[in-house]
Amino acid sequence: MRQKLVIGNWKMHGSLAANAALLDGIKAASARATLAVCAPFPYLAQCQTLLSGSQVAWGAQDVSAEARGAFTGEVAASMLAEFGVSYALVGHSERRTYHGETNATVAAKALRALEFGIVPVVCVGETLAEREARQTEAVVGRQLQAVLDALSIEQLGRIVLAYEPVWAIGTGKTASSAQAQAVHAVLRAQVAGKDAGVASRMAILYGGSVKPDNAAELFSMSDIDGGLIGGASLKADDFLAIGNA
Ligand code: 13P
Repeated sequence: MRQKLVIGNWKMHGSLAANAALLDGIKAASARATLAVCAPFPYLAQCQTLLSGSQVAWGAQDVSAEARGAFTGEVAASMLAEFGVSYALVGHSERRTYHGETNATVAAKALRALEFGIVPVVCVGETLAEREARQTEAVVGRQLQAVLDALSIEQLGRIVLAYEPVWAIGTGKTASSAQAQAVHAVLRAQVAGKDAGVASRMAILYGGSVKPDNAAELFSMSDIDGGLIGGASLKADDFLAIGNA
């Protein structure tokens, strides 16, 4: 059985007070899946304080590809590791779109996270125009291949993959379970091209308007191992309901 994982991506939301209430709510309950929250950088210390010793892990939403040095505004993997971070999102579509992250950058970030024992959650996904042009498999295939080319088999065995169709993020339009499963199966097959064992063990999460009322259907699909949750991760009850789906 593959690990079942539900990760919240708070994006640029939160405050000390709101986070404390949210984290208290999340850690008080138990969920069937492994839970993690990816908080903005300034709140990672708060996550470490409030979540240490709980069942809930925490992560960052990005990590620098550079180890250290004159990179104003960047945050190094070594720094994240000091705050007990287990996961780092890499290549979220909002980073690719607004910050020009290329497939090569995303692969370099994944490598840097791994170097410090942080699990990179590698995000891939197509835009609506790409889907309508029947380019979905080609686009996510290129995004994944850059990471497959950069990582050893041992390193690949330590990543999580997330399929997030850009048109489903924050729009209320979820991919149907069949649409998501089809892409997940293609991604897993592509990983299997490098190593079948790693592919069979890799957690592949779906993200894009996952809510308590559609999570169970999505998670029932054979290649969907959990979710990457935006809006619904900001409400403890919704996040836990998804974690139990
Ligand atoms: P929503 O769940 O708000 O659509 O966001 C998905 C996402 O981008 C998670 O990384």
